[in-house]
Amino acid sequence: MDAIEITGGRPLRGEVTVSGSKNATLPQIAAALLAPGRSVFRGVPDLADIRTLGRLLAHMGARVERDGDTLSIDAADVGTPEAPYELVKTMRASVLVLGPLVARFGRARVSLPGGCAIGARPIDQHLKALEALGARIELSHGYVEAKADRLRGARILFDLPTVTGTENLMMAAALAEGRTLLENCAREPEIVALADALNSMGAQVQGAGGSAITIDGVTALRPMDLAVIPDRIEAGTLLAAALITGGDVLVRGARAEDLEAPLAKMREAGAEISVEGAGLHIVAPQRLEAVDFITAPFPGFPTDLQAQLMACLSVARGASRVVETVFENRFMHVQELSRMGADIAIDGHTAVVRGVDHLSAAPVMATDLRASASLVLAGLRAEGTTTVHRVYHLDRGYQALETKLAALGASIRRVKGTL
Ligand code: EPZ
Repeated sequence: MDAIEITGGRPLRGEVTVSGSKNATLPQIAAALLAPGRSVFRGVPDLADIRTLGRLLAHMGARVERDGDTLSIDAADVGTPEAPYELVKTMRASVLVLGPLVARFGRARVSLPGGCAIGARPIDQHLKALEALGARIELSHGYVEAKADRLRGARILFDLPTVTGTENLMMAAALAEGRTLLENCAREPEIVALADALNSMGAQVQGAGGSAITIDGVTALRPMDLAVIPDRIEAGTLLAAALITGGDVLVRGARAEDLEAPLAKMREAGAEISVEGAGLHIVAPQRLEAVDFITAPFPGFPTDLQAQLMACLSVARGASRVVETVFENRFMHVQELSRMGADIAIDGHTAVVRGVDHLSAAPVMATDLRASASLVLAGLRAEGTTTVHRVYHLDRGYQALETKLAALGASIRRVKGTL
């Protein structure tokens, strides 16, 4: 397994471009299953998770081709509406094929995703909502078996604003008979991107981005051809890299409207961030101020940037309170940051981060995607050379992050095959 070596202490300077959004691309690729024909996606990042979903669709009989950053999916010949355990276990977002398969083929057999490092991550909301649309759901041998002659529109009130739950139901309802009203929906930019994709296929989706979405079912959809939106979490991570190193960076492609909560917290910590035509320009102070923040569904502070901002606050002046409300176990980066000299006390869902003057380089272990990003950020600041092991976690959601950071002046390199 590869590792990444970082020698800290260099303020990042220059310009970097954000890649396409992983969490917008995954549901849009799943939506290609709704239409016979070839859908084309432009500006698709080369990420492990995107490759995994492509393999899953190919397993079902779709023709999947990549040409540079353009991905095409021809779902005309899909004949096996199944998502096997060996593929789903590596990426729980595979559950996004459930809605489209039931909607187009009337049946689906999808392995239950199982938990992951950051929490149990059940899919009860997805299943309850699909049953409300008329699907017959059975759980057996670790698989979800869903059947429906034709889904019928219904009113669905989610217990909580689940991102992939909202996406699954938007896709299922697109081919259902009649109107579906989804309430207490997730409001992330990726939800709006999926609605745009579905509407470009001939669906009738209104209200995405708000907490109520209306979908009027149609009898058939046509393939899409779209450019994926920029990845707001990668953009936030690159801004955090400038923040922790006292840098001066233009993050091209970053959209301020996708990052309001994190930008407010970074400004509160002392950064100057200006919106420019090309993206977001951040100038960070030598020493950050402590900042309290709490994660929440969009438009609140995104849980996917919690570990990254915590790394920055570990060297701020004063104590910061961080509350993680979305996942039950998303502080695994804390013990690794502590090995680098951070002073962080966890009490349930709250972490108190007492800023220290210096971090010291250490060998550390990545445990999940965003935790691994926070360890790279800490390495950019720590004195000495930090080695982050098991960076396959990082590769799930960041395309060559080390190359982007090196272009900004970081002393960073990938080391083949270590722990
Ligand atoms: C999406 O996961 C993202 N993944 C995650 O990003 C992100 O952290 C998460 O939303 C929250 O923003 C993709 O978009 C592919 P949820 P998702 O359903 O949809 C509970 C990354 O780093 N819940 O909004 O799985 C769940 O346990 C990844 O890119 C239920 O209880 O998240 C969690 O506590 C990590 N029952 C909370 O809701 C359900 O049926 C939010 O989950 C569904 C969810």
